Amino acid sequence: MNKPSPIEQPEPAQTKGTVPPPLAMLAELTHRCPLSCPYCSNPLALSGKEGELTTGEWIDVFRQAADIGVLQLHISGGEPASRRDLVELVEGAVQAGLYTNLVTSGIGLTPRRMDELEKVGLEHIQLSLQGTNAELADRIGGYKGGYDRKMQVAAEIAKRGIPLTLNAVMHRHNMDDLERTIEMALELGARRLEVACVQFHGWALKNRAALMPTRQQTDKVKQQVAEAQARLRGVLAFDFVPPDYYADFPKACMGGWGSTGLNITPDGTVLPCHVAQSIPHLEFDNIRQTPLRDIWYDSTAFNAYRGTGWMPEPCTSCERKEIDFGGCRCQALLLAGDANAVDPVCSLSPDHGRIIDILAAEMAGQAPDFTYRKL
Ligand code: SF4
Ligand code: FES
Repeated sequence: MNKPSPIEQPEPAQTKGTVPPPLAMLAELTHRCPLSCPYCSNPLALSGKEGELTTGEWIDVFRQAADIGVLQLHISGGEPASRRDLVELVEGAVQAGLYTNLVTSGIGLTPRRMDELEKVGLEHIQLSLQGTNAELADRIGGYKGGYDRKMQVAAEIAKRGIPLTLNAVMHRHNMDDLERTIEMALELGARRLEVACVQFHGWALKNRAALMPTRQQTDKVKQQVAEAQARLRGVLAFDFVPPDYYADFPKACMGGWGSTGLNITPDGTVLPCHVAQSIPHLEFDNIRQTPLRDIWYDSTAFNAYRGTGWMPEPCTSCERKEIDFGGCRCQALLLAGDANAVDPVCSLSPDHGRIIDILAAEMAGQAPDFTYRKL
């Protein structure tokens, strides 16, 4: 592995004049969650309830976000329904003019709460699916009875006609169920299915060996998604996130650092991506002290990897540099030991051998059991 880079802040790559406004914001209302999925990408150390932004603070953030151009708000967690003020928060976001998407496991969404959410104008729900039957789903989510409750919530969503995306995180233990997952999306009336192959950040990294799909599973899932996309055009839309470790080129994480979206943690820390706090040489501002506009345009963290100016070779002279923006900075730190390096997922990266070694090691034996968070 390369040595980590010295602790220094790169010069801002772009100025306010050329930086576009953010389009989407992910608001992590809380880290509290009744489930304990082994693929959770939230950090190992979760924020406690006592540090969470208050109702008023969140609503002010939503107004600031709308003011600088954010259009879509993804209300997430943890489990956002763990916040007692969820309805009030959604109402505040709608009144600020944001399109609201609730990202939920469904646990905690009673019919009465759904009535209230509908009344205040919630526009979209993204429901997670841990597995296609109760046994598998409850084992993966670490929550007995969770699947049955989720199915009740899905029925309530369909009854109300709220647009639904089903979000299935796929890994070694459920990837072979993709056909049934697609059928369920149709049965539940979803308009979109997100087939999101597991990303190894946060808690998920502890479960990498347990969750890593095989190459055969990966090839099959790609083919199945392509076929289903063609077959169900106009009926069910697909978002497909292929597994990083089997890719030739990385994904543009967040569409490029500081280019289209931002993330707010439960305690108000503003991040360019969900995992960015894993990069220790960056300092992240908090909405309690600094206005969102200043953070988006002027903070050192948002400017650190914006655009292409920070890139090393071979990215600098690569024709894909404005397609994937050098991949994921958090993954570069994790696997190459340097957040300024090319994402090792890239087959052109000098550190790509690390991916090959990890795959060889993790495919060598039986997959271990899951490690769950102790809540
Ligand atoms: Fe992307 Fe850099 Fe790899 Fe080119 S060399 S494909 S820009 S990560
Ligand atoms: Fe942080 Fe990709 S998860 S840049």
